[in-house]
Amino acid sequence: AESVATGGGPGRSSSSGAAVSVADLRGAGAPAPGGTRRQYALTAQTATVRLPSGREIQAWTYNGQVPGPPITVTVGDLIEVTLRNTDIDDGVTLHWHGYDVPCGEDGAPGVTQDVVAPGEEFVYHFRADQVGTYWYHTHQASHRGVRKGLYGTLVVTPRDTQQADEAATAKQLDLTLPVHTFDGTVVIAGQDGRTEHTTPAGTPVRLRLINTDSDPHRLALAGTPFRVTAVDGRDLNQPGEVREVGLRLPAGGRYDLVFAMPDTAVALVLDNDHDGGVRLRPDGAAAGEDPAVEDTSGWPELDLLHYGEPAVAPFDASKADRHFTIVLDRAVAMVDGAPAYAQTVNGRGHPSIPDQLVAKGDIVRFTVVNRSLETHPWHLHGHPVLIVSRDGKPSSGSPLWMDTFDVRPGQVWEVAIAATNPGIWMNHCHNLPHAHQGMMLQLHYD
Ligand code: C2O
Ligand code: CU
Repeated sequence: AESVATGGGPGRSSSSGAAVSVADLRGAGAPAPGGTRRQYALTAQTATVRLPSGREIQAWTYNGQVPGPPITVTVGDLIEVTLRNTDIDDGVTLHWHGYDVPCGEDGAPGVTQDVVAPGEEFVYHFRADQVGTYWYHTHQASHRGVRKGLYGTLVVTPRDTQQADEAATAKQLDLTLPVHTFDGTVVIAGQDGRTEHTTPAGTPVRLRLINTDSDPHRLALAGTPFRVTAVDGRDLNQPGEVREVGLRLPAGGRYDLVFAMPDTAVALVLDNDHDGGVRLRPDGAAAGEDPAVEDTSGWPELDLLHYGEPAVAPFDASKADRHFTIVLDRAVAMVDGAPAYAQTVNGRGHPSIPDQLVAKGDIVRFTVVNRSLETHPWHLHGHPVLIVSRDGKPSSGSPLWMDTFDVRPGQVWEVAIAATNPGIWMNHCHNLPHAHQGMMLQLHYD
C-alpha cells in the first residue's frame, strides 16, 4: 500500500492534515495513446568513477555512473523508475528537477515519501507530458549527495522527432551536457565523457546545458551564432540569433542552444577555463583549428528577460489571488552550541518558516528579495514559474518560464504561478548548502 506522508521529516511537524487522496498525488498508470512504458532501475551506490581527464574520484552514483543513467524518452511515454539504495547511508530519493510530476512522485523526503535507506526501494511512475531538458537528483542531504554524484539527465523529445525518418534523425547532433564540479574541477561532458565531437558542416546541433552545481556558471559558445531556444525545458517564443554573448546559467538551470554546424570549429567554454569545455569540429578539421576564445569574460551577458518576442502567457500574472514576499538573508544562529550561519527566509530558517497556503486554481505571485551578499537560485517544485519583472523592470521578451532563477545580491524578482498541481511543494534556494542551512519552505494546496 502506498502512502503519502505529510510531515514526519526530522524536526518537522507538518501543519497539513488535508484530506488529499493518495491516488490523486501518485503518478499516471498508463502512457498516453501511442506512448511507451519505459522502465528503469536506478541503484544508488558508492563507486570509483573516472573523469574525462583520467582522474579517478570516489563518487556516490546511480548504477555506478556519474551522471546516472540518462533517461531519454518521447513525450507521452510512461516513465517507471525503481530506485534502490545499496550503501548510501544518508538515504536517497529521486527528485525530477523542473518536471511537474504529481506530488507523490516528487521525491521530497519526509514530505512526499520516506527516504530510501540502504536495502530499501521506491518506485516512481509518471507520464512524460512536457518536452524539454530536465534532470534528476537525490533530495536527501542533497548538499552532499548531488555534489558527490547522485544526479542524471532527463530529456523528453517531441513525438515528431521519433517519427521523422531515421536518416534525418541521424543527421542531428543532440548533446546533453551537465556542468558539474568534482573536487574543484568543473567538467562539461555528456554521458560518454567525450569533450570532442565531429560532425559534417551544416548539421543541426542542439546543446542541452544543465548546471548541476550549487553556484552559477558563466559559459560562452565561440565560433558560431546560435539561438537559446529553451530555458529550463520550456521553449522561448521566436528567440533571435546571438553571438559572442555570456551565458549565465543558474544553479539547477538549463539552456538549449541551437545552431547549424559551421565549416569551422566551435567551442563551448567556461569564462575562466578556456582549456576545458567541449569542442565541436566539422568533418576534416584538425584540432589546431579551434576558435580563439580568450576574450569571453568581456562578452556582454545575454539578458533572458529581454530576449525573444512577447506572446500571450496562459494566465494573467497581474491578477494574483495570493501574494507572498520572500526576503532572503543570512543570520548567525547557534548550532550545537557554536555560532554558525543560517540562511533565512523572512528572518527564519527551515523548519520554522511558515508554510505558504493557497487554493487550487489560484494565481500566486511571489516577490523574492535578496538582502544578502550571496546569489540565491530560487527554485519551486512542481510548477513552471513565469518571470514578471526584475528590479521593477518588466520582462519584455518571450514569456520566460524558469524553475530556478538567480536572485543576485540586492535584486527583487516578481514571479507568478498558476496553482494547478495540488500537493506539498518545496520552495527553496538551489544553492543546496543554503537550503541545508535553512533556506527552504513549503507551498501547500489540495
Ligand atoms: Cu533540484 Cu528541491 O530541487
Ligand atoms: Cu541561497
